[in-house]
Amino acid sequence: MQDKQLLTLPGPTPVPARVLQAMGKHPIGHRSGDYSKIQEEVTEHLNWLHQTEHNVQALTVSGTGAMEAGIINFLQKGDRVLVGCNGKFGDRWAEVAEAYDLNVEKIEAEWGKPLDPSEFQAKLEADSEKQIKAVIVTHSETSTGVLNDLESINKAVKNHGEALIIVDAVTSIGATSVPIDEWGLDVVASGSQKGYMIPPGLGFVAVSPKAWEAYKTANLPRYYLDLGKYRKSTEKNSTPFTPPINLVFGLLEALRMMREEGRDNIFTRHQRLTQATRAAAKALGLTTFAPDGNASNAVTAVMPSTVEAEQIRSTMNKKFNIALAGGQNHLKGKIFRIGHLGFISERDTLTVIAALEATLKELGYSNFTPGSGVNAAAEVFAN
Ligand SMILES: Cc1ncc(COP(=O)(O)O)c(C=O)c1O
Repeated sequence: MQDKQLLTLPGPTPVPARVLQAMGKHPIGHRSGDYSKIQEEVTEHLNWLHQTEHNVQALTVSGTGAMEAGIINFLQKGDRVLVGCNGKFGDRWAEVAEAYDLNVEKIEAEWGKPLDPSEFQAKLEADSEKQIKAVIVTHSETSTGVLNDLESINKAVKNHGEALIIVDAVTSIGATSVPIDEWGLDVVASGSQKGYMIPPGLGFVAVSPKAWEAYKTANLPRYYLDLGKYRKSTEKNSTPFTPPINLVFGLLEALRMMREEGRDNIFTRHQRLTQATRAAAKALGLTTFAPDGNASNAVTAVMPSTVEAEQIRSTMNKKFNIALAGGQNHLKGKIFRIGHLGFISERDTLTVIAALEATLKELGYSNFTPGSGVNAAAEVFAN
């Protein structure tokens, strides 16, 4: 059956019909007054979503492009930076920083475990000469479903006083509260195919006044990703380069939908989906990879012990047309990941759990009471 796929990945995520319709129009000129009006409204909504008063910059890139922009605009060659590495995307931060010859010091945790804020604190406290220029972390580590304790890491950065905090919030913006201004986060990067409920193609970077100060002396090579160009244009409700006009039509509609739902309601919805998914996995005798206190609102990684993760994914896909994500790097074949990010409802999650039960049964795994997964999820949703 066509057009029945349920996309429960941690990106790309399903796109609401309202958004698809908004994108299905002829493009308009991006130097027109009409486009300017759209850009103005988009920026206002983006600032609301990011909980910031400072204009969020939108770039025609994927999330990694937003991350790269977040580094090259605010640092200098050879700068000492602390990078949190406990998954694929933390590692990516380190790779981007190394590509630009920064002096990278990794603070590592095993994949599936959260970063330890006290390790950041110890390094920052020992840095009496203030040589650490930035602390770079991934908030929601999509590869493992771990939510790192950004608030505590940020407190250590604030006590240091000099270093910038640069954050990958690619799977937390629109799913988990990231109070950028209240916490004083300096650079926050994200991408459109996640909590924004639109297809891939746009990256977003929120920048604090302190980071804009650092921009003045930053000396890493940049051109297309020079955020100063975007800043100037955004102030005039314009863009420095041709934007993906139809994607922006979609973004505007998606942001309007988010405002209708309400920011706190969006976070609560994601939290409930997370709780239900984790409760269901446990009821089915499966291991949730991330610990309870550090669960991402975007994705739940599940480690089955006696059934092959890839077999589960493949059966879910073939029989039920449900797309789940697999494990990355050394976790390939060991875990599968259930996305509950963006345009996902409680009904979608119940569907995934029911199909997971049927899949497990088909694969001969009988270590659970039929219906126990659905029941555990339903209990969460009943409250
Ligand atoms: C936490 C995180 N950071 C960065 C990225 C990279 O984004 P992209 O693939 O859009 O470049 C992703 C994508 O899955 C992600 O989940």
